[in-house]
Amino acid sequence: MTHSHTLPYRIGFGEDAHRLSGGRPLILGGVPIPNAEKGAVAHSDGDAVLHALADALLSGLALGDIGQYFPDTDAAHKGLDSAVIVARALELVRERGYVPANVALVVTLDRPKLGPLRAAIAQNVALLLGLPESEVGVSFKTSEGLAPEHVQTRVTLLLVRSA
Ligand code: C5P
Ligand code: MG
Repeated sequence: MTHSHTLPYRIGFGEDAHRLSGGRPLILGGVPIPNAEKGAVAHSDGDAVLHALADALLSGLALGDIGQYFPDTDAAHKGLDSAVIVARALELVRERGYVPANVALVVTLDRPKLGPLRAAIAQNVALLLGLPESEVGVSFKTSEGLAPEHVQTRVTLLLVRSA
């Protein structure tokens, strides 16, 4: 597929969910959640924030999704640090002359409360994208008990043409 990207701005959107199970770490936005009773069941590190972020970067330029670049059937990707996935997606975006300008993300998780980790998650996502922390909005929601064994993240972002 030939891509011709000329718009000055492009919106990206990504989503990811994982089942939660006891005895596993929960990592969100690269931040280990210290008091989580359950963690993500996943082939990689199960970081739903970084997976959704990588998909948002790719979707902004219609570059497909992370499954095409990091298939979960590939043994080489077992336990993969999701920061590597984000770095690759960011590289693909930059190669096409765009950079992220701001990001908004929502994590839906019943327990534990994530409010105390808001700044840590925003800082780490900002670092991965080369943005100031002020450009990363982080929101948390419960599922109101509808999905207690589930973590879900949605990410939208703005890409700006830089070259
Ligand atoms: O989903 P709900 O509106 O009931 O969430 C209420 C508030 O609880 C949210 O606005 C958010 O600040 C906080 N929250 C949290 N950690 C979660 C879920 C929600 O800090 N895992
Ligand atoms: Mg995932």
